[in-house]
Amino acid sequence: MFDKKELDEMLQGFVRTAVNSTVTKLPVLEESYVHEAKPFKQVTEFVSQKAKTAHMDLYKGYIESLNKISSELDTAERGEVNSRYSEYRNLKIGEIFNLNATWLHELYFSNCFDPHSEIVMDSMPYMRLERDFGTFEDWQRDFMACALSAQNGWVVTGYHSFLRKYVNTFVDGHSSHVMMGFYPLIVVDMWEHAYFRDYLTDKKSYLISQMREFNWGVIEERFKKAESIAQVVK
Ligand SMILES: [Fe+2]
Repeated sequence: MFDKKELDEMLQGFVRTAVNSTVTKLPVLEESYVHEAKPFKQVTEFVSQKAKTAHMDLYKGYIESLNKISSELDTAERGEVNSRYSEYRNLKIGEIFNLNATWLHELYFSNCFDPHSEIVMDSMPYMRLERDFGTFEDWQRDFMACALSAQNGWVVTGYHSFLRKYVNTFVDGHSSHVMMGFYPLIVVDMWEHAYFRDYLTDKKSYLISQMREFNWGVIEERFKKAESIAQVVK
């Protein structure tokens, strides 16, 4: 690989270039970050209390791992790395897995489990999904197809900043087949731990129960945010 002296010399070269350029100096960012678990009301009757409790425990476990990895990345050896096996490579893989797991669970817990929410035809989510999928029912059909195509993973509707439209996709695990340039908006957990206790292998009934209780108020706020971000990221 390269020794520390060699790396320092290379980096100093970069610093000189940056200082001579007109780019504004940015504040130094701390590598390490600490995330805290949030409370979520799972008021649904479609999921048992045991499954809800177990799911929250899993979510907290991902955060615990994420914080540990974040702390270890702070001091990880960056000189002796390679693409086959190194501590740094393993930490970065673990970071993606646990960061995605944390964020996806938070999106899922807050966009599901609202038995009183209904979508209205002049709302932003309804109009955008109808525009990009043909009809709202076509979006639902495609969302279900993605969900049932996922292995232990996720189904997600999101805004794609390159395509500039809303699309459905699935993620296997927490970090396989992740679409780049994609801002997640509507999320359902398709891991066995989410449905097996209450639905056994009937993933479809579980999925329909989740879709019946989407919190469209939460989802609409995400749609607005996604499009405003897309204005900046072109
Ligand atoms: Fe989960």
